[in-house]
Amino acid sequence: MIYYNSQTKSFLLSGKNYSYGMYINRAGLLQHLYWGKKIGAADAAFLVAAHGLPASPNPDDYNKEIATDGMPSECGSFGRGDFRPATVVVRRKDGAAMSRFRYVSHKIVKGALHLQGMPCARKADETLILTLKDDFSDIELDLNYSVSEDSDVLVRSAVIRNAGKDAAEIAKAFSFCTELPDTRGTYSALRLAGSWARERTPVITPLAEGTLRIESARGYSSHQMNPFLAVLSEGCGEERGECYGFNLLYSGSFAITADVSQNKSIRVQGGINDYLFGWQLQGGDVFATPQAALCYSGEGLGGMSRAYHDFFREYIIDPKRVYMRRPIVINNWEATYFDFDNEKLFSIIDEAAKLGMDTFVLDDGWFGKRDGDASGLGDWFVNERKLKGGLKAVIGHCKEKGLKFGLWFEPEMVSEDSDLYRAHPDWAIGKAGAEPCRSRNQLVLDFTRKEVVDYIFETVSKILRENDISYVKWDKNRDITENYTASLPADRQGEFWHRYALGFYDLAERLTKAFPNVFFEGCAGGGGRFDGGALYYFPQIWTSDDTDGLERTKIQWGTSVCYPVSSMSCHVSACPNHQTGRTTPFATRGAVASLGATGYELDLTKLSEEEKMQVREQIENYKQIDELVLKGDLYRLADPFDGNYFCEMLVGKDKSKAYVVGERFRADPCDHDRVLKLRGLDEGKTYAIRELNVTASGAALMGAGLFCPRLPDCGSWVWHIEEVNKKG
Ligand code: DGJ
Repeated sequence: MIYYNSQTKSFLLSGKNYSYGMYINRAGLLQHLYWGKKIGAADAAFLVAAHGLPASPNPDDYNKEIATDGMPSECGSFGRGDFRPATVVVRRKDGAAMSRFRYVSHKIVKGALHLQGMPCARKADETLILTLKDDFSDIELDLNYSVSEDSDVLVRSAVIRNAGKDAAEIAKAFSFCTELPDTRGTYSALRLAGSWARERTPVITPLAEGTLRIESARGYSSHQMNPFLAVLSEGCGEERGECYGFNLLYSGSFAITADVSQNKSIRVQGGINDYLFGWQLQGGDVFATPQAALCYSGEGLGGMSRAYHDFFREYIIDPKRVYMRRPIVINNWEATYFDFDNEKLFSIIDEAAKLGMDTFVLDDGWFGKRDGDASGLGDWFVNERKLKGGLKAVIGHCKEKGLKFGLWFEPEMVSEDSDLYRAHPDWAIGKAGAEPCRSRNQLVLDFTRKEVVDYIFETVSKILRENDISYVKWDKNRDITENYTASLPADRQGEFWHRYALGFYDLAERLTKAFPNVFFEGCAGGGGRFDGGALYYFPQIWTSDDTDGLERTKIQWGTSVCYPVSSMSCHVSACPNHQTGRTTPFATRGAVASLGATGYELDLTKLSEEEKMQVREQIENYKQIDELVLKGDLYRLADPFDGNYFCEMLVGKDKSKAYVVGERFRADPCDHDRVLKLRGLDEGKTYAIRELNVTASGAALMGAGLFCPRLPDCGSWVWHIEEVNKKG
């Protein structure tokens, strides 16, 4: 709900449990007032009276140098007395870059704003569009705020318009800016940091004077830093306390900053990475920023995560695919790597069919000349020397056995040893005259160029058109370097990063539209592009190349801070694990993988009879709980980064069913008394836990809890919980 009070010129935006307030102060600047627990429209006047700071009697004060330096703003200015990081900066023809935007008008429209060529929230109840104008040019700025009654997420974005005739250059265009008030240094910040095979580790640090900046300058959202920051009030933990989430629905190079000012207020803002960014805006041109999903939780990090999960499922992921029962996949990568032929694949397919799997996904190595990672990328036609009878033979075999077929692509890449590169060396990103940076022996295609995207669209489409393919795994295995395109003039190279992201979105949009019956899974050398932008096209994403039964608990835990479990592809792989060398019980690998879109990635022909029996049981188990994976609420019970246990719990929305998965990392004679208090159940309902033969009320299970089982190293447990005596 969006209220506007014309007397106080204030706005109060409210979602499920939060309100967000701002007003146009006497100088016409858009001042932030409030963000927190839901309040009523009647309090808007109070907010202005109490929080409309600084309460200067003279509107002209805002024109003096310093007056805006402490003003909580919805759009930080540059060069006019606000010395904190700016939000939008425009450089004009004469080189001057001071930028300060004042209110012109606003409108409240029904529904969401569609962003052409970029991922965006698919729906909203209402959107407030606030139009501001630069003090020093004809540049206009729309600040957009979309709210929905059933969501704790406020969607923000900005649109910059050149309403004049003179060309200008956008030097910075963040998507949002907001401010949290002075609480004397009691806030901390949580980011999701990591590396390849260690994605999204939650890292919490105190916020202090100065600027915390998280970013990716790799051309995509990255393994190293997710485009997400949370600001936590003092005392905020998993279950209680206030926190604020900032999630960019963007897959390109980004930055999010949290600046603690001299008066201890915190300005948080973010968007496209502004490092060497520039965007030319001719008269009449319009530039739209990516959207950001802001979330307030009064119920700790757990509450914030559940709000984000609902948001991604209901507002971002393709509604046709989001609640689709996920196929149990058998992927051949770790079973064969590049070394396969028909016989090897057929034997895996045969076994997969016997074990009850749904889809065989043929990974890297099926195309061009691709027997290792040094060649073939870009040549998206089947290698018939390797696969006799081509894809048709493999697909035919899958069909015979009752399996569907999926295929791996890495559409954004090219090998120098490929026909594509030999024909179009200039299509690879690089700078003529300089040796290109290679990574995994490959180069990145210049997706800022439409003809390159068109070509890849055509070649990938041809394969998808001519073969019965129900699943695509879309990989991306390196960072972007050089950051240069010969297709843009010298003064427009600052557009490179964002144009690359737009090229990726263009291809994703066209392919997912052209093949509505294909299920697209995202991947980037594991989970290097696991973000809200990618989820718009890919309902699930390969979470990490690390499938170790212990490490995975951490990666999935961290990923779940923002993203729903249904969006995480989780596979059972062989031991010793190929990444860590560790051996964990088969049951543990299966249990951990069941907290996501589960699948297998190992040579099924090498499994023992006992392991095969376990696979059958795991699949049977998954079919009983996949509804909870797709639609349930996640409660994180035991933090794998802090102690000897991992435990997570999924609870159905109607609270009649729940599923618990736990793991004990080390056998330890002294920690078996650990009590696990369940969460999310209905206190008044009675539940049975199948594995424990226990019946108790939700109140008892959540209040008194249960002991964690005593288990050997990396032992795991699963509990199926179901409501009993529905009618008392
Ligand atoms: C990286 C992915 O994360 C793996 O699953 C696999 O597809 C390889 N690339 C193939 O090159």
